[in-house]
Amino acid sequence: MFEIAKTLKLPNILVRELHPGHREKIRLHLLALSDKDRSLRFGLHTSDEVINNYVAHIDFSNDSVFGVFDKQLNLIACAHLAYPALKQATNRTAEFGVSVSTEGRGMGIGSALFKRAATHARNTNIEILYVHCLSRNKVMMHIAEKAGMEIEFSYGEADAYLKLAKPNNSSIVAEAVHAQAADIDYAVKKNIQHSKFLISQIRSFALSPK
Ligand SMILES: CC(C)(COP(=O)(O)OP(=O)(O)OC[C@H]1O[C@@H](n2cnc3c(N)ncnc32)[C@H](O)[C@@H]1OP(=O)(O)O)[C@@H](O)C(=O)NCCC(=O)NCCS
Repeated sequence: MFEIAKTLKLPNILVRELHPGHREKIRLHLLALSDKDRSLRFGLHTSDEVINNYVAHIDFSNDSVFGVFDKQLNLIACAHLAYPALKQATNRTAEFGVSVSTEGRGMGIGSALFKRAATHARNTNIEILYVHCLSRNKVMMHIAEKAGMEIEFSYGEADAYLKLAKPNNSSIVAEAVHAQAADIDYAVKKNIQHSKFLISQIRSFALSPK
């Protein structure tokens, strides 16, 4: 897959857009975060109940949610791109929030989700991408700075803003190719998982006493 990605100039980390059928995976991913990580993600102490409620109310018809899956198809990272409500049609700012499971960190997944969300925001005519986080969140601050975001600090919190360019043919094609590749990658992983299951069934059938 990496070789194909290189030829097509695809990123190594493929990000998939999620849909309401992924709510349970999103919920499990967020519930597995430590208390500290939940505070970093949501800006305050976040109980299981708050997470359940948050996931149940993600509005997939207005917002976009992205995810990265491991080989076993566990959701190991998730980003929420929250759009202004439809009635605030003149506000062209979208908010980005992200979390990566501890075992997936430091490999570029958070940055890949940011990039994918920024391209999607740009292609949907968002002008400003916004991230709110705690100013002690060094990793998120680093990702924001690396992306060229302007950061304003106040009272232990930070607001980062990225002015997005207008969409063009290449940003639209880049997103479409990435989305297709991520779908193919997911389908391949699913087939491998299914084949492994079939092989294990055949083996246990062959080994069972006649
Ligand atoms: C923030 C988070 C999403 C980052 O995910 P990730 O997959 O580890 O991020 P990446 O691997 O893409 O990038 C990490 C970058 O931070 C850098 N970094 C790591 N520790 C750092 C530190 N203490 N100070 C500064 N930079 C640091 C890494 O070197 C890397 O930079 P590089 O790409 O220039 O080498 C993840 O840590 C997380 O889920 N945290 C809890 C939730 C959260 O904080 N969400 C953000 C608020 S919305």
